Amino acid sequence: MRFDIVTIFPDLFAGPLSAGLLGKAVTDGLVQVRIHDLRQFTHDRHRTVDDRPYGGGPGMVLKPEPLFEAVERLQAPEPRPAPVVLLTPSGRLYRQEVAKRYAAAGRLILLCGRYEGVDERVHQHLADEELSIGDYVLGGGELAALVVVESVARLVPGVVGDPESLEDCFSAGLLDYPQYTRPEAYRGWKVPEVLLSGDHARIERWRREQRSERTRTRRPDLLVSRPDGGAPSSTVVTGE
Ligand code: 6GU
Repeated sequence: MRFDIVTIFPDLFAGPLSAGLLGKAVTDGLVQVRIHDLRQFTHDRHRTVDDRPYGGGPGMVLKPEPLFEAVERLQAPEPRPAPVVLLTPSGRLYRQEVAKRYAAAGRLILLCGRYEGVDERVHQHLADEELSIGDYVLGGGELAALVVVESVARLVPGVVGDPESLEDCFSAGLLDYPQYTRPEAYRGWKVPEVLLSGDHARIERWRREQRSERTRTRRPDLLVSRPDGGAPSSTVVTGE
C-alpha cells in the first residue's frame, strides 16, 4: 500500500509514522508513505501556497496551481491513476467502509486542506473525493490524513499480526464489548462474574448483549444506518 501526502507541514508526520504497528509496517515495506511539501510545487521566490479569498472574508485560501502540479507529478509515472482525496471539514464523513475501499485501491494521494479553505477548482476538478474525519474543526487536514493512513494500513495483509483483531467493532456495525484483565478486583471494582465462569456460551451471550446495549445508548446512529435498521440487535439484548 502506498500513500502520497501533500502538505504544507511535512515535518508533522515523522513521529506518528514511526511508532507502533504503523512504524513497523513502514519499516517492513508493507506500507510506503511519501510526504510531499506543497511548497516544492510553487515557482515564485516566496513559494506562495495561499492567497486572499475573492469576494473578501477572513483567512487565506490554498491556491490551485501547486496542488494540481503536485498531483500531476505524482500521477505521471504510474500506469494507473491513484484516487485523489482532499481532507477538508466540508467533506463526507470518513468511515470504516471507506478505509476498506482504499485498502483495496493499493495507492492513495492525500491532499491536506487548510481550515480556511481550498480553491474550489481543486474540489471540482482535482479531487476524486473529499473527506472529513468528524464534526469538529482542525487547522488543517494533516491529522486527518494520518487517521486515514493508520486505518487503511491496518487493513493491509500482514500489518496486524492477528487477523481476528481486524474483526473490529465496525465490521459488525456495533461497538465493542467491555474488556477486563487482571487483577480480578481493583479498588473494590470486580470483574463481572460471567467472565470468570469458563462458560463460553454464557460469555458469548453477555458480550453480545453488552455490544447491543452500548451501541443503543452511545451510538444509536450506527443502528439506524445498519442495513437491517438494527432490528435483530434490539431483540438480541433481551436474550438470556
Ligand atoms: Cl479533514 N480538516 C479539517 N481542517 N478539519 C476537520 C477535518 C479535516 N475533519 C474534521 N475536522
